[in-house]
Amino acid sequence: MPFVTNKELLNKAMEHGYAMGAFNINNMELIQGIVEAAKELDAPLILQVSKGARAYAGRTYIMKLAEAALADSNLPIAVHLDHGPDFELCKAVIDDGFTSVMIDGSHFDFKENMAVTKKVVDYAHPKGVAVEGELGKLMGMQFDEGEGGAVSKDAVYTDPDEAKEFAEKTKCDALAVAIGTSHGAYKFKATPKLDIARLKVIREKVKIPLVLHGASSVLQDYVRICNDNGAEIHGSQGVPEDQIKKAVKAGVQKVNIDTDLRLALTAGIRRSLKEDPKNFDPRNYLGPARDLVKEVVMRKIKLLGCDGKADLFR
Ligand code: G3H
Ligand code: 13P
Ligand code: ZN
Repeated sequence: MPFVTNKELLNKAMEHGYAMGAFNINNMELIQGIVEAAKELDAPLILQVSKGARAYAGRTYIMKLAEAALADSNLPIAVHLDHGPDFELCKAVIDDGFTSVMIDGSHFDFKENMAVTKKVVDYAHPKGVAVEGELGKLMGMQFDEGEGGAVSKDAVYTDPDEAKEFAEKTKCDALAVAIGTSHGAYKFKATPKLDIARLKVIREKVKIPLVLHGASSVLQDYVRICNDNGAEIHGSQGVPEDQIKKAVKAGVQKVNIDTDLRLALTAGIRRSLKEDPKNFDPRNYLGPARDLVKEVVMRKIKLLGCDGKADLFR
């Protein structure tokens, strides 16, 4: 099976009422852990690559690793650029063979964001590549100014009417929205709460699939393994799994996960090295770390309901 696009994967998810996990990749062990989980649960996959990941692995290696995932499985897989900062990088990865790109113009004003997104759409669509845009700003702690009610002064939640206009005018294939999530391991100080009411209004007005960035749950089992083995990741908090479920029910089709994979990989490495300080064979600590990545990805796939859905594409 050749690579598919996010458009195909997300439209199918919308049709059948489940969501896709979109998993960030940087190296071989992460990819293998993710693919093994998807194979075991027969789930379609989005492998996403940030600018930093592409620079870290190298553009040839990252593409070949994604191709290896495809060759090693009978799964529908999209290879997607995460947070493309400008037209030039979007164009470069499309030319490399990515089937989907995100143009992140969320730091621009509304008009400029629409203009750059449209420019990417105009390049991508004739080549059969799907485009994700973003409207609204995810920044910092989302509830850092009060008792679980106030929104971070840096965050700007997505306006439903603007979202409709943005989707219709740019013709992008998916839209990332800001409803209270944020990137990284320190998302909330007070009680985490997503703006599901706002999401429902956006869902009514916007016809294309919706995307949730910063959606890791910061699973405390893995944080604990890290901390028990020398890390100092204190006070971390993610989006609770029940809120992710509510967001999926309210109409999100793509859920971005990076931090939870980083935590799992780090937990595995730290625990193995602590248990056997004499070991210096990378296979003996990267192997168990890869197993924890697989465990986390299986948990996400089941949570989002995309297990067994690879068959919809065969
Ligand atoms: O949302 C951002 C992703 O977690 C990628 O992070 O730019 O450090 O690779 P990165
Ligand atoms: P997390 O940091 O919550 O994993 O979010 C990842 C993400 O949004 C990638 O684009
Ligand atoms: Zn993101």
